[in-house]
This record gives sequence, C-alpha cells and structure tokens, in this order.
Amino acid sequence: MSNNSGKKLPHVTTRGLLEMKERKERVTMLTAYDYTTARILDRSGIDVILVGDSASNVFSGHNTTLPITIEEMIYHTKAVVRGVQAETSRAMVVIDMPFMSYQLSSEEALRNAGKIMKDNECDGVKMEGGKVIVDAVKRITDVGIPVMGHLGLTPQSIYKFGSYKVRAQEKKEAEELLRDAKLLEEAGAFALVLEKIPADLAAEVTRSLSIPTIGIGAGGACDGQVLVINDMLGLNTEFHPRFVRRYADLDSIIHDAVVRYVDDVKKEEFPSEEESY
Ligand code: KIV
Repeated sequence: MSNNSGKKLPHVTTRGLLEMKERKERVTMLTAYDYTTARILDRSGIDVILVGDSASNVFSGHNTTLPITIEEMIYHTKAVVRGVQAETSRAMVVIDMPFMSYQLSSEEALRNAGKIMKDNECDGVKMEGGKVIVDAVKRITDVGIPVMGHLGLTPQSIYKFGSYKVRAQEKKEAEELLRDAKLLEEAGAFALVLEKIPADLAAEVTRSLSIPTIGIGAGGACDGQVLVINDMLGLNTEFHPRFVRRYADLDSIIHDAVVRYVDDVKKEEFPSEEESY
C-alpha cells in the first residue's frame, strides 16, 4: 500500500468498511492529531485515521478527554486531512465529537456534527454512548453524516465510572452493551468502537452486527483494531495497559537525539562548516 509518488488511491469509505467485514479483512485504525503523523499513516496503508479526543490527554496534557473543545478538534482535523491529502488520500478520517457537543439534545448534536463536516473534509464523526445518544445518531445519519459509535469504556464518562477498569464484565452490563450496539446499528451507525470489554462479549457483538466493530482492549475477534498512536509508538511511557502493543520506543529515540543535540551545541560541534553558509 506504500506509495511514495504522491499517487492518489481509492478512498476508504463506509461501504468499503462493510465490504471488508464481509470478506473478513481486518480494519486498521490509529489516531492522529497533526499533519506530519497523518502523512505517515496514510502512506503506510492505514484504513481509518481517528482524530480522537485523546488529543486532550496525549497532545494537550489534560488528565481526561473532557476539556477539549469543538474548535480544537476542528483544528486537529484540518491538519490531519491536509496530511492525508498530501499523500495517497486513501485513509478515511473520522473525528471524535467532544464532550458536551452532542449530549444536550439531538438538535444540538446535529448542529455540531454539521459544523464539523462543513469545516473539514473529513468522512464522519464518532460519538460515545448507547441508548441515550440513539436519537442524535439517527438525526445525524438521516442527513447523510456518517457516525461511528463507541461503547464499553467510554472515556467521556470516566467520572461516572470512577475508574478505567474493564467494562461489562457483569451479565447485566454486557446485555445492555449488546442492546446498545444493536440500537446504534439500527440508528444508522456505520461502525462501532468497542473499548476495554471482555473478548467473548466483543466477539458476540461482532457476530450480531452487520457493521464492523473496531476493538481497543476488546480481543482479536473484532472486525478491526484501533490504538492511540502515542501509546503504540512508545511516546506515552507512563501508560502501559496490556492491550497496548508497543511497536517503537520513540520516547528513548527522541530523548537520545535531543541529548546528543544539546551536547553538540554546548561543545560547539554543531553546526559544522558543511552545515553553514
Ligand atoms: O479518542 C480516542 O483516541 C479514542 C480511541 C481510544 C478509540 O476514542
């Protein structure tokens, strides 16, 4: 899928994701918040880039996803979309609707989803929650805006849960999650993120839906997988839950490079004559 010539490739669409589920091809999704990272992701063949509200944590340094605003999400999304367009334009770009941009009423949710779609050339929005957001999801999808759902550990509700532990381990919550998943599909959601739930439950949800499920800490039976880019690149050293596989140790790589740079400048070994005009 790598394409260094800047050649455009067929864009991943909601229909494309459904077809991937049908032919049992796994969907790959990673988060990105900036132009440079989005370029690398698109060039590397990722199917979906999520401009996650995890930007609130890993980009802005907040403790939770709650503080990020709709304007900040739009700022990140514009940069990501430009990154994808600078490469193959293949990756689908989905933006998280931030906390309190869709919970007040379905009318407000529609207005904000419309604002996000008008301000960006992105492919859809993601919203957390089940039954309580179903009316909003229906209104938004009815006007043609694709919605990705998000169930299980929904970080915007962290103060209600009181912890980041695995969700839906009890029968009652598991049944409720399965019901919510079906309601979201009926309301028109095109895919569903399942975060930190037992693998057996995620497998059951995946079998019960015709739309793809994308898991994070939800086992290998989901139709796709998503990780936060900072976690999988080893940029977030304090955070190591078992569901994160580290594909690189960028914290050490960047640290070592900066230490060498500081050393070179202090010793007046940088810049050299060849690096000067
Ligand atoms: O904001 C985010 O990064 C997410 C992923 C964890 C799915 O919602």
